Amino acid sequence: MNRTRRYEGKVVLVTGSSRGIGQRMALRFAEEGADVVVHYFRNGERARETVEAVRALGREALLVKANLAEADKVGALFDEIEQHFGRLDVYVHNAASGRNRRAMELDLKGWEWTVNVNARAFLLGAQRAARMMPEGGAMLALSSLGADRVFPYYTSVGATKAAIESMVRYFAVELAPQRINVNAISAGGVRTGALEHFPDMDETWRRMEERIPYHRMVTPDDVANLALFLCSPEAEMIRGQVIRIDGGLTLITP
Ligand SMILES: NC(=O)c1ccc[n+]([C@@H]2O[C@H](COP(=O)([O-])OP(=O)(O)OC[C@H]3O[C@@H](n4cnc5c(N)ncnc54)[C@H](OP(=O)(O)O)[C@@H]3O)[C@@H](O)[C@H]2O)c1
Repeated sequence: MNRTRRYEGKVVLVTGSSRGIGQRMALRFAEEGADVVVHYFRNGERARETVEAVRALGREALLVKANLAEADKVGALFDEIEQHFGRLDVYVHNAASGRNRRAMELDLKGWEWTVNVNARAFLLGAQRAARMMPEGGAMLALSSLGADRVFPYYTSVGATKAAIESMVRYFAVELAPQRINVNAISAGGVRTGALEHFPDMDETWRRMEERIPYHRMVTPDDVANLALFLCSPEAEMIRGQVIRIDGGLTLITP
């Protein structure tokens, strides 16, 4: 296999590729030969930057806006991919949102929003993706350490990440006969815009970096490298797993 062009001729969807980790993954898939569906919700300008960067690599980019909190918009995203490309080889469920509250302060609206964007969108997306995915396709969901740990104000996101990790196992078993692989990445803190909304974040970052045995934060590139591996035939026998990428952070007792 040509390792530098592992995704030549493949169609890859990365949800939430307007910024952060998703944007980096989209570009890395394109660098390895993929045509990319660039998806966004609010940041059209940033998403168009991703599109331009994909095209500058000589690959095709389809730009789609969809609020993944709405079930019909999830459907419309996949309709558009089907109409344009006729298939999907890799589905990366990266987009995420959340209501940052303590468990005792979490309101119903915030809970439903977070469940719908993070967990329900993956359920509906994986169902649609599987129907247009040739054998050898792959799905990947982005989880976080908060799926099985308690972080301040992370209640809603943590619970939905746990749901995602569970769904990954079910889809992996059900889709194995179709030779579709499904895994998750659980990343430690990655410095993107996502965590700027949490209170006291500078102090949290500082403490985290101190505790990481490798003494640096995980970068979007670290996550993208793992994503490219997990969605490739090289990871064929890794199925339904949650792969942790945290520089050894969770090996250390507080
Ligand atoms: N950053 C970290 O430390 C970290 C750690 C572990 C796991 N993760 C996970 O990695 C993934 C990417 O994280 P990130 O830090 O790169 O996130 P980010 O910078 O906050 O970007 C989030 C992305 O999700 C999209 N999005 C948000 N709400 C949406 C909605 N309702 N409908 C559709 N799209 C929506 C955003 O699109 P627009 O901007 O266009 O609205 C954006 O592209 C997430 O699943 C996150 O939970 C992150």
